[in-house]
Order: sequence, then structure tokens, then C-alpha cells
Amino acid sequence: AHTVGRDADGVVTVGGISVTQLAEEYGTPAYVLDEADFRDRARAWRTAFGDDADVFYAGKAFLSRAVVRWLHEEGLNLDVCSGGELATALSAGMPAERIAFHGNNKSPEEIERAVRAGVGRIVLDSFQEIVRVAHIAQSLGKRQRVQIRITVGVEAHTHEFIATAHEDQKFGIPLAGGQAAEAVRRALQLDGLEVIGIHSHIGSQIFDMSGFEVAAHRVVGLLKDIRDEHGVELPEIDLGGGLGIAYTSDDDPREPHEIAKALTEIVTRECEAARLATPRISVEPGRAIVGPTAFTLYEVGTVKPLDGLRTYVSVDGGMSDNIRTALYDAEYSVALASRTSDAEPMLVRVVGKHCESGDIVVKDAFLPGDLAPGDLVAVPATGAYCRSMASNYNHVLRPPVVAVRDGAARVIVRRETEEDLLRLDVG
Ligand code: LLP
Repeated sequence: AHTVGRDADGVVTVGGISVTQLAEEYGTPAYVLDEADFRDRARAWRTAFGDDADVFYAGKAFLSRAVVRWLHEEGLNLDVCSGGELATALSAGMPAERIAFHGNNKSPEEIERAVRAGVGRIVLDSFQEIVRVAHIAQSLGKRQRVQIRITVGVEAHTHEFIATAHEDQKFGIPLAGGQAAEAVRRALQLDGLEVIGIHSHIGSQIFDMSGFEVAAHRVVGLLKDIRDEHGVELPEIDLGGGLGIAYTSDDDPREPHEIAKALTEIVTRECEAARLATPRISVEPGRAIVGPTAFTLYEVGTVKPLDGLRTYVSVDGGMSDNIRTALYDAEYSVALASRTSDAEPMLVRVVGKHCESGDIVVKDAFLPGDLAPGDLVAVPATGAYCRSMASNYNHVLRPPVVAVRDGAARVIVRRETEEDLLRLDVG
């Protein structure tokens, strides 16, 4: 978050408010989101791509009604991947035509809602879904704008669970063996569909642009084959999301304008070579917009030095508010936020309160040796895929999201209560 600093007493502040004030008012753990930073990042993507391209924020990274309104105001579109995300987007006033609907197994009910609402595009993920969406649209007397998601066969250099362009996985239709071309052929024949383009998403937390380069090359190759076979030039291509952010100081992310320039150049070059009109490009950044804008504020509960090993620092949250360390071996940093200290740093592992030894928030870090119960610590870059992947494991209550801007804080997602938990338990 870019408005983070320390006040004269050494307390971390964000948007002009100290974390001690935030903890007092909203409790811990809490996700603290810097609204100005979010808007700046959203705007930077929008500006970088200009009017000839579209930016769809990937709602799976983090979605709430306030976020939808910010995106709307900043001129971004929205990618949703479930009925729940669609409902959130529509209820916060995102115009349906600015919504893209994703997913490898959208239910007929979800498809019908999306078509009825008039979403700008549905991204088709399988042969069966091509027929299913066409049928539903036709029965509603509509022609649905669609893209077809293909897998281009790129091995993105990221964790296996978040790489999506190799062929042996559940998303998309493989380019290999002419399957993607066959999918387009079939879709073009169906009255319920208006095929507007091809979609490729190669993975997430990627720093190396070469995967996008190969993907663009192959997508344009498919556009050319479609033109040659059907005389149709599809007007759009979507290159997905996946741009990496800095979780620790080892990561060196690209700026939106560099990414926009690189992607636009690649697509333009490939299209010129294929003698195709350059299609309208769209992208779907999630993490790169929201990830850096929030940190999680925790209170230290116990400090347990293990001789010759490390010190275990237990905080009042854990894998239920950040599963990424356990799931992807993700790396985070941590800082003492409620004060500064000159004490000698000690090697720590920040762990949660869950009944599981894999409940680790920050694997390896250094914190001041005088760290004590009651201290507040902050874990940066938790804006993406933390609240959105949070769970109630051990019946731990999911933390609130507190948005801070210009010296004012407000809750945009409230803390879960025991009543919330018990309300669902109707046995
Ligand atoms: N577009 C599509 C079709 C996607 O599947 C995704 C992410 C995105 C865009 C946005 O990707 P981003 O720009 O946020 O990297 N839970 C994992 C990440 C899963 C990403 C799933 N799809 C994590 O915590 O790292």
C-alpha cells in the first residue's frame, strides 16, 4: 500500500491512520486496504492500455461491492467466475455489458442468469459448454457474445496449481490437434452465439513476458487459420491475467505501461506478419491490481523460542485468512507495526491459531528479539487471494476488510460473527 509510513512514535500508519487506532476500532486480525492505492493501480492499468484495449479486473482476487464501484468509477471492466461474483457485480451497479463470465463448469442456471443480465461476454471453456450456452441464449431469444478459451501449450514458470496453459489440465480447449479450431468452427455455426474472440490465460504470479509472447503468437496463428478457413476475422483477443507482484524484496514486478507496451507490440507484430487487422486486446489482472494494496494486521499472542531452531510467533489468525503459504509455499514478509525496536533481530516463523502444524503465515522472517504478546504485526501484499480464499476452518471467524483513505477508515466487508456461523447451522 503506497500511503504506508510510520508516525513520530514509530507506529505504522496507512492513509493517515495508525494501526493501533485501526486495531482498537476494528479488532484484529483485519485486512487493511488502501483505497487510494487500489484506485491508482486500477487507473494505471486503464491508462496504460488506453482506449483501444479493455482491462477486466479479475474478481476472484478480491471482490466486494465497494471494489466494484471503484472499478466502475475508474473505467475498468470485471471478470467474474461464479454466480456469486456475478451477483456481487450486478448488485453494486457494474453494467452487465462490462462483465465477462468465466469458469470451466458454469451451471445452466448461472449461464441463464448471465445471458438474461446481458453480460458482455461469456468465455466458453469446452465443447459441451459451446452447445449449452448457444442453446440457452437461443431459448431466451438472444445472441450471446462469447470468447473461446484455448490452451496454447505454454509452460508458465509458476506453481503447478496456478499454471493454466499447459494442456494436461481442466481449463480451455487445446490448440493441439486442431481442437481449438474445431471449437471455433462449431461455435460459428450456432445462432445463439456471436463469437467475438479467443481467450488465453497462461497462469498467475508470472514475471517473465516470454510466456505471453508465445501465447500471443499461437492465438494469432489460430485467428489466421480461422480467417483462411471461414473468411471471418475475429475482432478480439484476451491474454488473461497473471502478472506477478512483489511479495518479498526478491520479486521485481513490471509496471502496467511496460506490460501494455509489450503485449500490444507482440500482438501487432504477429498480426502484421499474418496480414490480419490487429484485434482489440483485453487483459484480466487481478493480483497485480489488488495484491499490493492491502496488508493483514495481526496481534501477537504467544512467542515461543525453540533453542537452536527458531522462534514461533503465534498470531490471532492464520491459514483461514491466508491459505497461500500452506497451499503454494508462498512467501511473505512481516514487520512489527505497533512500535519500533532496537532489539537484536531473531529468526521467526509466524504461525496461526489453527490446529495444524502447516498453519504458517510467514515461513522465515526476522523480527525484533523483544517481540511480545500484544504487539501488532503487519503482513504486506495480502490484498489478492487471501480474503477471497478465506475459510472458517476450526470455526475461526473471517476477518473484516477495512478500507482506508484520506485519514478515514470504513469497513467494506465486516468481520464474521459467531451468529453468522450458527445461522448456517440449521440441524
Ligand atoms: N483470468 C483468468 C481466466 C484467471 O483464471 C485468472 C486467475 C485471472 C485472470 C487473474 O490472474 P491474476 O492476475 O490474479 O494472477 N489462488 C491463486 C491464484 C489463482 C488464479 C486463478 N486464476 C493464488 O493465490 O496465487
